[in-house]
Amino acid sequence: MKTIDFNPFLFEEEPILDNSVKIGKSDVTTGPLGLGTNKVGGHNLFDGLKDEDGAAVVKAALNNGISLLDTAFMYGLGKSEEIIGDVIQDYDRSKIVIASKAAQDPNNGLKPNNDPKFLKKSVDEALERLNTDYIDIFYIHFPDEQTPKAEAVNALAEEKKAGKIRAIGVSNFSLDQIKEANIDGQVDVVENHYSLVHRQAEDQIFAYLKENQISFVPYLPLAMGLLTGKYSRNDAGKFSKFSSDEFGKIIDNLSKVKIIADKHQATVAQTILAWYIANPNISVVIPGARLPEQVESNAKSLDIQLSSAEFDEIDKLF
Ligand SMILES: NC(=O)c1ccc[n+]([C@@H]2O[C@H](COP(=O)([O-])OP(=O)(O)OC[C@H]3O[C@@H](n4cnc5c(N)ncnc54)[C@H](OP(=O)(O)O)[C@@H]3O)[C@@H](O)[C@H]2O)c1
Repeated sequence: MKTIDFNPFLFEEEPILDNSVKIGKSDVTTGPLGLGTNKVGGHNLFDGLKDEDGAAVVKAALNNGISLLDTAFMYGLGKSEEIIGDVIQDYDRSKIVIASKAAQDPNNGLKPNNDPKFLKKSVDEALERLNTDYIDIFYIHFPDEQTPKAEAVNALAEEKKAGKIRAIGVSNFSLDQIKEANIDGQVDVVENHYSLVHRQAEDQIFAYLKENQISFVPYLPLAMGLLTGKYSRNDAGKFSKFSSDEFGKIIDNLSKVKIIADKHQATVAQTILAWYIANPNISVVIPGARLPEQVESNAKSLDIQLSSAEFDEIDKLF
């Protein structure tokens, strides 16, 4: 289990950054808590977002000990990267880990494109929007149907050699696709859907990732806010993925997590995030946020040390 050495009292001047997580076989290191930024400028995906809130969300992360920012071309068709690019000018770049992604081709109805030329152009354009000289982790956001996976990864390997990116990732790849992509051992990290209520990755890919020193970053860790504990049985309609029975059970289980949370004087969201942080199968957890207050609150999960009994109890609840 990872242990987090974190002293909130040393936090007043500059956040103490925990760099205990190594990304695959690359030389990128980061803390176990990142920030998901699909609600930073992601106007094409969510209604009612304000760019100022997005910038404030990124600042709140960097001011509260979170160094990894997970973005993508797809979040606002470049807007999320631009907002991040603006904000980071006021921070020490060497202390920030930027992860971005591309695949959706704006010249072909946003269909996935893993063609080496397209990926290289995407890296260059992302560098410009992010207003930086290098991207720490670059993911192929989605597999396409035509490009051999090893060819796509080789394109990123060339970008790595050129110093434009530091680690190679794939996202939304099945086990077979990951194996094909990693034929030369060049994949450092996989970002796939995983949460306490969506656990298929455990049986499907965890063993292969571990055997091959590939880091795992789960997306939708809070199940789009459901696992924060802010919803009740009346909200079943907002989460149509679950039957009303399944939804009711999740709400009941969250009330049991609340008992553990209360013992730590923490919120349900902080306690759930602490479970991911303590989970040895997970490298970095990247909860998204709409508002800076959410980030400030989520950052406190770094202070929570779950006992192994509490870890197991949450593990078995879902
Ligand atoms: N690779 C991929 O294909 C892929 C796909 C999806 C996402 N991602 C990445 O994964 C990240 C995480 O996923 P996600 O952001 O979609 O979902 P998530 O992390 O499961 O949920 C985040 C949402 O929960 C709510 N929330 C967060 N903290 C809260 C708090 N303390 N109190 C109350 N509500 C809170 C916010 O939404 P509201 O305030 O609106 O309720 C927030 O936007 C994304 O931001 C993105 O970077 C990647």
